[in-house]
Amino acid sequence: MSTTGGNHSFVWRAARAAGACVSLAVSVAACRTPNTSSVQPTCYGLENQATGTKTVSATGSCEVATRAATFPASWRFRAGEQGTLARSAMVSSNSALASAAGDEIMRAGGNAVDAAVATGFALAVTYPVAGNLGGGGYMVIRMADGRTAAVDYREIAPLAATRDMYIGPDGKLTEESVVGYKASGVPGAVAGMSAALARFGSKSLREVLAPAIRLADEGFIVDSALFGSLRGSRPYIERWDGKAVFYPNGEPLQPGTRFRQPALARTLKLIAAQGPDAFYKGEVGDSLVAGLKRGGGIITKEDLARYKPEMREPIASTYRGYRLLTMPPSSSGGVTITETLNILETYDKLPPFGTAAYSHVLASAYQRAFIDRNSKLGDPAFVPVPLDKLTSKAYAQELRKTIAPDRATPTPQLERTIRDGMHTTHYSVVDQSGNAVATTTTINNGYGSGVYLTGPGFFMNDEMDDFAAQPGKPNMFGLVQGEQNAIQPGKRMLSAMSPTIVLDRSGQLLLVVGAAGGPRIITATSQVILNVIEHHMSLPDAMRAPRLHHQALPDTIRFENEGLTPVVVDSLRAMGWGIAPIGSTANVNAIMRTANGWVGVSEPRDRGPSRAVGH
Ligand code: DON
Repeated sequence: MSTTGGNHSFVWRAARAAGACVSLAVSVAACRTPNTSSVQPTCYGLENQATGTKTVSATGSCEVATRAATFPASWRFRAGEQGTLARSAMVSSNSALASAAGDEIMRAGGNAVDAAVATGFALAVTYPVAGNLGGGGYMVIRMADGRTAAVDYREIAPLAATRDMYIGPDGKLTEESVVGYKASGVPGAVAGMSAALARFGSKSLREVLAPAIRLADEGFIVDSALFGSLRGSRPYIERWDGKAVFYPNGEPLQPGTRFRQPALARTLKLIAAQGPDAFYKGEVGDSLVAGLKRGGGIITKEDLARYKPEMREPIASTYRGYRLLTMPPSSSGGVTITETLNILETYDKLPPFGTAAYSHVLASAYQRAFIDRNSKLGDPAFVPVPLDKLTSKAYAQELRKTIAPDRATPTPQLERTIRDGMHTTHYSVVDQSGNAVATTTTINNGYGSGVYLTGPGFFMNDEMDDFAAQPGKPNMFGLVQGEQNAIQPGKRMLSAMSPTIVLDRSGQLLLVVGAAGGPRIITATSQVILNVIEHHMSLPDAMRAPRLHHQALPDTIRFENEGLTPVVVDSLRAMGWGIAPIGSTANVNAIMRTANGWVGVSEPRDRGPSRAVGH
């Protein structure tokens, strides 16, 4: 078992994180044409009486008009593109085959929750880099009759976990929270999806599992995205038993060939026949425990038998009259988005998109919200979480006072005031009745801990790295977190996952959104929301617009390469900001209501055609 320590370990872990994001690779072809969309002004909702062309809300006013968006000339995406359009129902995910699985269930009369669960199981087959049975996630549900839920099926630390289990004899962090048999939390995916289905679905587990079982049994054709992802993760997966399955003849699965997964098909059939008990108390669990034990893993049958998903209430917040339903702790995502938007709402009007003034205000809001996130949040079953305060408008007013109009405030200085005391996948679903589901699920890194269990046929997560394995020291994502998120047996590790549903001012469903990308999930998800509500972009433009990120520490604005003009970058530097480019941020899949039905947009930063499917 290799151990690397300190800075070396961190550099190694950061490099691993970069490697994990291979499937986020983007087309870098620069767009030199004038980069303004030709989107005609439209409103969301019903017929627009004033213009006779587009839409108004149920209240009769044109609440959000989409306008032409303008991006920097050298930005890689053109404004004004179309998304996938559908009248009745839509799934937007990272895999067209998994989206089609959800669509198939809705065409057969299933609702959005049936479809979300079908998509989730199908992603475990067709998108092994992040889709999973060996991980966990969060699902925010809003039924058209007004019922809501936030299903927390985050992994938990095994009973044998200890606070310092990833600190080596030299006092430095080892690699074991990220790779190998000890990196996994107890998986929640099967329990969580089954619980959501039982409460809100209309079909049986057997019915919604059928497309995933078919894809695993009959196989599917490998595309260049899966090939590229496997090629990038080769040194990592090949260390363990996935080698024979994903690199037959020593090479990654080849594009154009059929990939069958008999072990996974058998696992899915057992779950279809016996329910989640097959995983938590039966044959699948036995095989998982035995497989991990061979390599020194610590998850036991007792851990599996004790696992329970939590049915929580979503955080319900508002932004300029729009209602947001988003994920509460054990994820930090909903709190941090709410706190950020509350700070931004204290401004009567935000500066125009793409300006230094907008970047300054946005980064300042993120910086403050992330200071709270990194120091005050953790699993509410283990630590007190000041949820009401952090999500209150009054607290946002206080934080607003700390933002100078033209000057950055260093994070350490703010921390003294504010502190008291890859890989993931998101999918969005809407159905013909207006039920909506936002789900984010993860095994953390691409292909999780790298450990593929040949018995049950899936990869295990490396979610233990989301704990503060050494409070005060950065984790794989550079997040510096505190004692609230230290390791304890049975505790959920803090997440950034932010599945979110937005209702317009008349209470109609407007947007279903969320992302993959570690802490960048929070900033990317909230920027898509802001681009729609504040900057009046169409969803395709809102998704293509350049993003920025700030997570308190490192105390630097990260912006997508060429996403800010040099003048804006210079202005921000002059205001005292540390600022540096990054390749890309996060991987969002979203759906929005339009005049003619739903528009689904899968992450444009992923190569290839749209992976949203609807009817
Ligand atoms: O729960 C979290 O915040 C992380 N495990 C998410 C990791 C992630 O998004 C990596 N993917 N691209």
